[in-house]
Amino acid sequence: MMNQLSDRINNLATSATLAMAAKARELRAEGKDIIGLSLGEPDFNTPDFIKEAAIEAINQNYNSYTPVDGYVELKEAIITKFKRDNNLNYSLPQIVVSTGAKQALANVAAVMINPGDEVILPCPYWVSYSDIVKLSDGVPVEVQTSIDNDFKMTAEQLEAAITPKTKMIWYSSPCNPSGSVYSKEELRTLADVLKKHPHIYVVSDEIYEHINFKGGHFSMAEFDDMYDRTVTVNGVSKAFAMTGWRIGYIGAPDWIARACNKMQGQITSGANCIAQRAVITALEADPSRIKYMVDEFKERRKLILDLLSEIEGFKTNEPEGAFYVFPNVSSYFGKTIKGKTINNASDFSLFLLEEALVATVTGEAFGNPDCIRISYAASQDNIKEAIKRIKSALS
Ligand SMILES: Cc1ncc(COP(=O)(O)O)c(C=O)c1O
Repeated sequence: MMNQLSDRINNLATSATLAMAAKARELRAEGKDIIGLSLGEPDFNTPDFIKEAAIEAINQNYNSYTPVDGYVELKEAIITKFKRDNNLNYSLPQIVVSTGAKQALANVAAVMINPGDEVILPCPYWVSYSDIVKLSDGVPVEVQTSIDNDFKMTAEQLEAAITPKTKMIWYSSPCNPSGSVYSKEELRTLADVLKKHPHIYVVSDEIYEHINFKGGHFSMAEFDDMYDRTVTVNGVSKAFAMTGWRIGYIGAPDWIARACNKMQGQITSGANCIAQRAVITALEADPSRIKYMVDEFKERRKLILDLLSEIEGFKTNEPEGAFYVFPNVSSYFGKTIKGKTINNASDFSLFLLEEALVATVTGEAFGNPDCIRISYAASQDNIKEAIKRIKSALS
């Protein structure tokens, strides 16, 4: 049958992380014992105090449409959180609550990007950035960073990537997939470049803010000269183990927030009412209540870095946040192992799935074809077993 689908969807890549998860599910259904280290999803339960708030909301009959941009009480909790954790002052019209940070990002793309506008993406970047940008007819401009610079974009690299068509820069810190965290000083050097280019806006995706092993999270919008040009994106999926609840939000200049509200009003309306009530409780809580998860991620990070250092040909940076390692595996390219030739990171990731029964994600999906992403949002036993299998398959 003729393909009647739009060019838009035909040109859209399938999310590589979701595709790998589907492939792993397929192999599991065939009876294979796959260890999944491909998904960006905490393996903890949502904390009880948040679940209780949701149950209470159901019993109190929160069942109607919510305001498109979120309950006022939730927006107030977000304002308090921004002030408490990030030293950022936002007012109610500057906040929009969405169905996950993913929708928040899609809103921003839709309201900011005109056809042909360029969006600078320091590589590696979160897997969906480039396709969200493309869906809005924008042009992703990848800036390759170096593992020796902890996968961070330098001021010189940023300057070189800017053209008259540059509209925005999107980055995450802590970064998915590299775990890198931009310091205040590093962000200042980027902001200094942007001073000369007042037409460029920034998306600062801070969804891993609390999963930071070194401390010292800094938001681009904290700089006075960047506040009016920055959209701060955050959400509860990662730090609160609430991926399925689907709540994300932005703090932004009010004209951008108003536009996102308008966009969302025509597409999905307000996010789920029960989840919004539960998130009020999550955000009002002191971040120390979720520290037990961060502590566990920190231990797992040490474990996986130690174990990977025993495998020849894996070069890693030391991630300072999130829950991923992003080793460079290019020393295996061109080799044939167990009859399979590995030419790139996708071949390597597939090899690990088929021969070690461990699911990872190719770095190509994140704009870096020399690396693979391994998530350590898995039990220590699973991490040990997975790395043992990888080592054995490669030896
Ligand atoms: C950097 C980054 N931004 C945004 C998201 C989307 O989060 P949410 O679950 O809130 O849609 C993710 C999820 O993997 C992410 O890693």
